Amino acid sequence: MELPFAESYKIKMVETIRKSTRQERVTWIKDAHYNLFNLKSDHVFIDLLTDSGTGAMSDKQWAATMEGDESYAGSRSYYNLKESIKEITGFDYFLPTHQGRAAENVLFSAIIKADDILPGNSHFDTTKGHIEFRKAHAVDCTVAIAKDTTAEVPFKGNMDLQMLEDVLKKYPKEKIPCIVLTVTNNTAGGQPVSMENIKGVAALAKKYDIKLLFDSARFAENAYFIKTREEGYADKSIVEITREMFSYANFMTMSSKKDAIVNMGGFVAFKDEEDWQKCQMYTIMFEGYITYGGMSGRDMNALAQGLREGTEFNYLQTRIDQVAYLGKKLDEYRIPYQRPAGGHAIFVDAKKILTNVPKEEFIAQTLAIELYLEGGVRGVEIGALLADRDPETRENRYPALELLRLAIPRRVYTNNHIDVIAAALKNVYDRRASITSGYVVTKELPIMRHFTIQLKPAK
Ligand code: F0G
Repeated sequence: MELPFAESYKIKMVETIRKSTRQERVTWIKDAHYNLFNLKSDHVFIDLLTDSGTGAMSDKQWAATMEGDESYAGSRSYYNLKESIKEITGFDYFLPTHQGRAAENVLFSAIIKADDILPGNSHFDTTKGHIEFRKAHAVDCTVAIAKDTTAEVPFKGNMDLQMLEDVLKKYPKEKIPCIVLTVTNNTAGGQPVSMENIKGVAALAKKYDIKLLFDSARFAENAYFIKTREEGYADKSIVEITREMFSYANFMTMSSKKDAIVNMGGFVAFKDEEDWQKCQMYTIMFEGYITYGGMSGRDMNALAQGLREGTEFNYLQTRIDQVAYLGKKLDEYRIPYQRPAGGHAIFVDAKKILTNVPKEEFIAQTLAIELYLEGGVRGVEIGALLADRDPETRENRYPALELLRLAIPRRVYTNNHIDVIAAALKNVYDRRASITSGYVVTKELPIMRHFTIQLKPAK
C-alpha cells in the first residue's frame, strides 16, 4: 500500500484556542461594528484573517533569535540575512524594513512622483495605497480569465502582456517608474505567475526601458507552482527557480511575514548598487539605520533562517496541499471558489453564493460575518470594501469579484481545523437563500478604509 501524505514537521509547542457560542459571537460582532478586524482574537476560534505574520516559527528560527546581534551598525545578523537573500534571490543589495508596506514606502519615496503610472497584476491594497497617496496611478493589467472563478487554468495570476504593452506605449517612460509584478497574485486568489509570463513582462520592460519590481511576499509559493505546473521545471529545485525568477527583476519588495515565515519583517532588495543608494536616505528617515531598518538583530536572524525553510520543497508541498485540502472539501459541498486552489488561501466566490444580497450592501463582507457567526471562523473580505472609493470621484468602486478570503497560516492548523472551516461554510451555504440583506457603512477613513470601517445591518 502506498503510504499517505503527512506533514513534513512535528509539533513542539501549542497554544490554546477557545470555542464560543453563537450568542456570544452575535454580541461580539455587533460590538466590533461588523468589522472582523475589530474583533478580539480571543473571540475567534479559527483565524483565517491573514497568513501574514501568523505562521509558526521553527525550532531553528527560535534558536537563531538567541544568536541575534543587536549592534546598531554592521550587525552580524544583517550580514547573515544578506547572505540568505543573496542565496535565494541572487540580489546583492538590500535594506531591511519593519514589514512589506514599509519596503514599498522606502522604494516608492525614491522613485514615484505625482501623475506617474504603475502598471501591474492586481496591486495589493497597501501597494495601491502607497501609489495613490503619492497621487500616482496603479493600472491593473491582470489577465481577464482571473475574473472567471470557474476557469481551471494553472497561471491565473499572470499579467496580460497586450494590456501592459498598451500602457507602456501610451505614456512616456519618464512617467512609468516601474512595472509591479506580484508573485503570487494575492488579490486574484493567491494565483501564480508563470515563468513564461515573467519572461514576457521582463522583455517588455527591456523594450521600453522600464524597471521591473517584484512584490514578492509569496515568491516561494509561486516557485512551487512553477515547479509543479510549468513544463521544464519539474527537475529544478525551488531555489533554482526563485533565482531564475528574480534574475528578471530590478528590485523586489518583500513582506517577510508570509513566505519567510516570520512574525514581523520585510526588506527591499536591488540588483543595482545605485538604486540601493538612492533608497538609503528613506530607510534612515522612516525605518532605521541601513543595517537594521526597523528590525532587531534577532528578527533578522530568524528571517535569514525562515527564507531558507520557506523555500524547502517538502515544507511548500505540505503547505500548498493543506490549502488544496480545503478546496477539495468545498468541492464536496459544491461551494464555489476561485479555481484552482491558491497558494496561501481559498477565495470563496461570495457573489455566486449570496445572490440575494445587493452589491451596495457588501456581499463578501456579509458572507464573512455569517461564517464568523456560524463557527467562530474569521476570514476577510476581498470585495467592495477593500476596493475602496475612487480617489477622484469618491464613488464606491465595485470590483468584478466579491471574494471571501480564507487565508491559511503556515504550520499552524491541522486538517481537523480545516474540516471545521469547511463544515461551517457548508452550513452557511445551505441557508444562503434566507440571507437577503447585508450591511451599510456608518464610519470610514479616506484611504484603506476596510481596516477600521464601521458598519451596521442594512435592515
Ligand atoms: N504585498 C502583498 C502581495 C501582500 O499580500 C502584502 C500584505 C503586502 C505587500 C504588504 O506587506 O503586510 O508586511 O506590510 N498582505 C497581507 C495580507 C496583509 O493579509 O494579504 P505587509
